[in-house]
Amino acid sequence: GKSGYDHFMLKEIYEQPRALRQCLRGRIEEQTATVDIGDLGGLNPTGVQLVACGTSYHAAKYGAQLFRDAGVSAQALLAHEYATAPPPIGNDLVVGISQSGETADTLSALREARRRGARTLTVTNTVGSTMDRECDHTLYIRSGPEIGVAATKTFAGQLTALNLLSLATSEGSNKRRTVVPALRDLAGHVQRILDSSAASTVAEQYDDAESYFFIGRGYQHPVALEGALKLKEISYEHAEGFAAGELKHGSLALVDENTPVFAIVVGDGEKAQKTVGNIKEVEARDAPVVAVTDGQSDAERYADHVLTIPESRPRTAAVLANVQLQLVAYHVADRLGRSIDKPRNLAKSVTVE
Ligand code: M6R
Repeated sequence: GKSGYDHFMLKEIYEQPRALRQCLRGRIEEQTATVDIGDLGGLNPTGVQLVACGTSYHAAKYGAQLFRDAGVSAQALLAHEYATAPPPIGNDLVVGISQSGETADTLSALREARRRGARTLTVTNTVGSTMDRECDHTLYIRSGPEIGVAATKTFAGQLTALNLLSLATSEGSNKRRTVVPALRDLAGHVQRILDSSAASTVAEQYDDAESYFFIGRGYQHPVALEGALKLKEISYEHAEGFAAGELKHGSLALVDENTPVFAIVVGDGEKAQKTVGNIKEVEARDAPVVAVTDGQSDAERYADHVLTIPESRPRTAAVLANVQLQLVAYHVADRLGRSIDKPRNLAKSVTVE
């Protein structure tokens, strides 16, 4: 049942601390800064193709960035466009990311990869699913059952599991020394957000907006895409996510006082500063700005509302910022009286191509 929550989606958002602990249990060791995902740690890919759809594709984009940052060539590919991708070569690993393990588009991309001779791995929540059975390797995200059509805790689980995969196969000990503690802190940080989020106040302010924009750079770009997808699928309102720098190349023309812009700003480095610059651009067009930020930069100065996240590494901050955006989507949809757990026209598992 919903254990007292109005919707499964809200229950599953609140289950994230537990799901994340479960994902990491026995897999990270802080003293030695090691990651143990068994045989998978020995995969040593020279290149990685990550294939997925929807929310899982946003996780794929994030995962590709993890591998690229580790010096491994990696690409996120929409599973239904896999036929147009260059074939995997040599020691390439093809990673299918799928909560259900049954998505037809992703399954057929993985089958195509096998036909082309590639090794396949699935990052999935579902033991015994078709992908689990057909792929050479599986990394379980261990999120527990997700009933709401909107993927929430499983997206957090996918991002976390992809960190484990890149750390175990491709990243060096220096990286592990900083990232392992950040992963360990993740569940507690998510809990802090759940206990104190201002997302329902923000939803109240903007539930009649014309359109919602989400911007982020680097690891926050897939989160911006995911924030928009979540909002549109459950609220039926128009939303778009952008790489922050892309806005001024066309879509800025749509921005006015009726388009709240959610800007994810993490840390105070060059990326953060540039995104603050993008905030100023939309502010100059009278757009309301909601900063999702750890308060390190001066983003708050230009924002109408702030959704605070604890300080973390950029890659783990992505999980935290996403929790705030899940809550915004939930509260907007709830205020509009939408069918949150079963949005119109959508299915939990899409088993046709
Ligand atoms: O089961 P999968 O992760 O393969 O599903 C892929 C997409 O259909 C899925 O992520 C979808 O976009 C989400 N349910 C949206 O919240």
